[in-house]
Amino acid sequence: MSAQTVWITGASSGIGEALALQFAQNGDRLVLSARREGELERVAVRCRDTGLPTDQVLVLPLDVTDWDSLPGKVQAVLDRFGSIDLLVNNAGVSQRSLCKDTDMSVYQKLMDVDVMGQIALAGDGSAFGKEDEDIAGGMDVNECAEVVFKGLKARKREIPVGKGKEMAALWIKRISPEALFRMARARH
Ligand SMILES: NC(=O)c1ccc[n+]([C@@H]2O[C@H](COP(=O)([O-])OP(=O)(O)OC[C@H]3O[C@@H](n4cnc5c(N)ncnc54)[C@H](OP(=O)(O)O)[C@@H]3O)[C@@H](O)[C@H]2O)c1
Repeated sequence: MSAQTVWITGASSGIGEALALQFAQNGDRLVLSARREGELERVAVRCRDTGLPTDQVLVLPLDVTDWDSLPGKVQAVLDRFGSIDLLVNNAGVSQRSLCKDTDMSVYQKLMDVDVMGQIALAGDGSAFGKEDEDIAGGMDVNECAEVVFKGLKARKREIPVGKGKEMAALWIKRISPEALFRMARARH
C-alpha cells in the first residue's frame, strides 16, 4: 500500500505502539504522540528497526487534554511532512467498574481524554464548513416527541428519530458505511 503520513496518538504503548509498527513496516511516514516522550522514543527506535528511515519518524509528545497546545502540534506535523493523510485518534483511557462504585471525576477524565481530546485535535471542521440543510431545517418537536413516546412505550432498544435524508443516511450507513461517506463527500 502506498506510503502516507500517519499520526498516531497514544503511540507510547499498547494498540498505538502495535499500530505504529504495522505502518512502519508499510513504509509510512509516522508521527508518534502521547505524553511519555521516553516511551515514544523507544517506539520510534522499534519503527526504525523495521527499516523506516530516521527522518520518516517524528516523535511529538503531547497531552490531548491540553487543548491550547494542540494547534501548535498540528502545525509542527505540517511543517515537517506537509500534510496529514491519517490521524489515528487512539490516545485514551478506559475503566472497568460499576457506576455506583465510581467517582464522577473518573467519567470526567474519560470524556476529557477520549472525547474532548479527539475534538480538539480534529480542528475546525473546515473540510465541510457549512451546516447541512436537513439539519438546519430541523424536525417538528411534536413529531419528534411522538416517535420517542411510541418507541419508549413499545420498549424499543433503539429509537431512530429523524426525517428524509437523515433517516435514509442512517439506514445506508448500516448497510454500507463506505457508500454513505462517498455520498457525503460528493455533496460537499
Ligand atoms: N485494550 C483494550 O482491550 C481496549 C478495549 C477498548 C478500547 N480500548 C481503547 O483503545 C485505546 C488504546 O488502548 P490500549 O489498550 O493500547 O491502552 P494503553 O496501552 O493504556 O494506551 C493508551 C495510550 O493513550 C495515551 N494517553 C493516555 N492519556 C493521554 C493523554 N491525556 N494525552 C495523550 N496521550 C494519552 C497513553 O500514553 P501516555 O501515558 O504516554 O500519554 C498510551 O499511549 C485506548 O483509547 C483504549 O481506551 C482498548
